[in-house]
Parts: sequence; C-alpha cells; structure tokens
Amino acid sequence: MSARKLTPGRLVIASHNQGKVREIRELLEPYGVEPVSAGELDLPEPEETGTTFAENALLKARASAEGANCVALADDSGLCVAALDDAPGVYTADWAEKAAFESGPGRDWYMAMGKVEGKLAELGPDTDRSGYFTCTLALAWPDGHHEIFEGRVHGSLTWPPRGTLGFGYDPVFVPNGHEQTFAQLDPADKHAISHRADAFAKLVAACL
Ligand code: IMP
Repeated sequence: MSARKLTPGRLVIASHNQGKVREIRELLEPYGVEPVSAGELDLPEPEETGTTFAENALLKARASAEGANCVALADDSGLCVAALDDAPGVYTADWAEKAAFESGPGRDWYMAMGKVEGKLAELGPDTDRSGYFTCTLALAWPDGHHEIFEGRVHGSLTWPPRGTLGFGYDPVFVPNGHEQTFAQLDPADKHAISHRADAFAKLVAACL
C-alpha cells in the first residue's frame, strides 16, 4: 500500500530538542510545509516508555498530533556502538541524563560521550570502535494514521571530542569516508549523509 501524502500547511515537529528541531526545519525547508515545534506550542513532552526507536517516535508523534490536532513529525534517534552490543541505542539520551545527575541539571553531553569512551577503553586498545547513528521518523495524523521511516549513518568513535557544530554525540562521531567529526563538518555536509537525512529521503520519496 502506498504511503499517505503530506499536504502543504502546518506540521508540528514533535520535539523539545533544539538541535533536532533546527535540523528538521532545515531538511523540510524546500517542501512547502510550515513547521512549528512542540515547544513553541507548549505541548507536553511525553515520557519515552517504548523499547524500540519506532515505538518512541510514534508515541511522540501521536502526542503532538492529538495535542495540536494536525499532522506531527517525531524523530527518535540514537548512537549504536558495535562493541557495546549496540548500546546506548534507544537509551542514548538517558545516558546523558544519568551522566549529568552528579554534575548538575540538564543533559551533559561531554560526560555522556565520556561514558561511551570509558566503556570502550575497558575493552582494551584494539576494540572495534565502529558504530552508527540511527534515526526513526514517525509521521502521525490526528485521525490515527501513521507512517514510519528509518535511516542510518555508519562511522567510528574518536576520542577526545572534536568540533563545536551539531549537537549531542557529534564531536566523537567520524562518518565513514571522512576525517572530521560530525561536529567539525559544515552542517550542509552533515545533512548530505546523516541518519536523519537518510530517513528524510525515504519520507520525501514516499509522502511528498
Ligand atoms: P531521543 O531521540 O530524543 O531519544 O534522543 C536521542 C539522542 O541521540 C539525542 O539526544 C542525541 O544525544 C543523540 N543523537 C541523535 N541524533 C544525533 C545527531 O545527529 N548527532 C549527535 N547526537 C545525536
């Protein structure tokens, strides 16, 4: 069955993460939709109780679609490290929250990146440092219909962190075929190859 099409007009970006909202806005720019974020509409941020990226993306998209009574787009993403059995995976954001527990409020990305590095270091200097970012996009309509798309980018983890662009774990992720981390690459270059761009290309092909 073919996917439901997005029609021009308002679309809620079901995220309170400013880095993600910025990237999603940039990716949607050419398509005539009018993005507004869940934060701007004061919509509540649902608890991510799912055990898969798709479950979490869908519960965020549904909460915003119902709250704003219009189509909503959510992104659930994370970093999967091969030597750590694909951790932190669906718990990527939680690792930062836990890492920040002792250092103050908010999510501390430096400590979260350090936690991943600490676990890799425990496995020894020859450990496989490969991993991938994954992004699951969920589109939800107020009538209950939904569409799901997944994208990935493969790369390896470096230490210490490098670069100031992007967000989250970007300073330790070097995409395959590049020398620079995602936080050193020009945003347009990140958008050309990222997990979010890969998922977006699938969404655009199916729904726009
Ligand atoms: P969630 O999707 O809200 O559960 O959060 C996933 C977390 O994965 C983010 O808060 C970031 O830490 C991380 N993440 C997802 N996408 C990226 C990215 O493009 N660069 C760096 N970190 C990312």
